[in-house]
Amino acid sequence: MTVIEIRESGGPDMLVATERPTPSCGPGELLIKVVAAGVNRPDVMQRQGKYPAPEGASDIPGLEVAGTVEQIGPDVTEWGVGDRVCALVSGGGYADHCLVPVPQVLPIPRGLTFVQAAALPETTFTVWTNLFQRGHLAAGETVLIHGGTSGIGSTAIQMARAFGARVLVTAGSAEKCAAALEMGAEQAFNYREVDFVEAAKAATNDRGVDVVLDIVGGDYMQRNIEVLALDGRLVLVGQLGGWRSQINTTPFFRKRLTMTASTLRARSVAEKGALAREVRQHVWPLIESGKIVIPVHATFPLADAAGAHRMMEASTHIGKIVLTV
Ligand SMILES: NC(=O)c1ccc[n+]([C@@H]2O[C@H](COP(=O)([O-])OP(=O)(O)OC[C@H]3O[C@@H](n4cnc5c(N)ncnc54)[C@H](OP(=O)(O)O)[C@@H]3O)[C@@H](O)[C@H]2O)c1
Repeated sequence: MTVIEIRESGGPDMLVATERPTPSCGPGELLIKVVAAGVNRPDVMQRQGKYPAPEGASDIPGLEVAGTVEQIGPDVTEWGVGDRVCALVSGGGYADHCLVPVPQVLPIPRGLTFVQAAALPETTFTVWTNLFQRGHLAAGETVLIHGGTSGIGSTAIQMARAFGARVLVTAGSAEKCAAALEMGAEQAFNYREVDFVEAAKAATNDRGVDVVLDIVGGDYMQRNIEVLALDGRLVLVGQLGGWRSQINTTPFFRKRLTMTASTLRARSVAEKGALAREVRQHVWPLIESGKIVIPVHATFPLADAAGAHRMMEASTHIGKIVLTV
C-alpha cells in the first residue's frame, strides 16, 4: 500500500510517499480502503517532532479516515465488505489502506461524501468528550470558543449551538469572524483587534461565560480565568500558544472554577469505542439532518500531504483540510 511517512522531524517536505506491505485484519479489526483522510493540527505537531505517536500506534500520521471496508477480522459481525465507513484512528490515516479497531468505526452519515465524512471523527469525538462530558456545557449556558474557525472550533460552534448553548468565539481575521457567525456563533471577536475578556463580558452583561474551550493556552490562561462566570469551567484542548503559563489561582476559589485538559489519541480502544457510541447517538443525527455541517476548506491528493500541511501552518483555512486517495 502507499503511505505517507515522516522521514524525520522537520518541515512539510519530510512527508514522503512510500510503499509498505498492506496489513491483514486480526480479531476485532477492519481493513478500510481509504478514500479520504482528515488532516489535523496534531499531525503537523507529530511531523515537527512535538507530538510522538503513542505506544503501539502506527508511526504513519493521520487520525481519521473514510472509505469502504475491504476486509473484516475473523470475529467481526457488525460490518461487511463494501460498507461505507469512517473511523477514528490513533495513526495510519495518511495511506490508501488503514487498519482500524471495530469499536472506533462509524457508518458514514447519510448524504455525506467520503471527503465530508473523513472530516468528522477527530473533531466530533474531541468536542463531545471535552465540551460536553468534561466541560458539562448545558443548554442555555454561554461558551467562549477560541480559534472559532479551526477544525475543532468549527465543530464546537455547531455542536454547542445544536445543544442550545450561546456561542461566542475568537478568531484571527474579519473573514474568519464572518465565517464563525455563519456557522452559528452569536458574536465573534477578532482577537488581533479587541480584548476578548472585555468583549465577552460586554456580551454577557458582565457576568462572564460558563465554559471556555481553548486551543491556545499560554498567555490566554489568565484571561480565560478572568472571563469565566461563577462555577465556570476552563476546558483546555491545545496549547498552540505554549505550554507554560503563570497564573493567579485566587479566582478559582472566589468563582469556584474548574479546569480540565485531556487528549483523545492515547485513550484505549474501549474508551474510544464508548465515545463512538455516544457520538453516533447524539451527533450523527444532527449531521444527517444538516444541522451540523463541518466545512471542508480544501482537499489535497494523498501524495501532496506536504501541501496540506503548508496550508494548515499558514492558518488561512476555515474548517477542515482533507486528503484524497
Ligand atoms: N486534546 C485533544 O484531544 C485534541 C484533539 C484534536 C486537536 N487538538 C488540538 O486542537 C487544536 C486545534 O486543532 P485543529 O486541527 O482544529 O487545528 P487548525 O484547524 O489548524 O486550527 C488552528 C487555529 O488556531 C488558531 N491559532 C490561535 N493561536 C495560534 C497559534 N499560536 N498558533 C497557531 N494557530 C493559532 C489559528 O486561527 P486564527 O487565525 O483564528 O488564530 C489556527 O487556524 C490544536 O492545538 C490541536 O493539537 C486537541
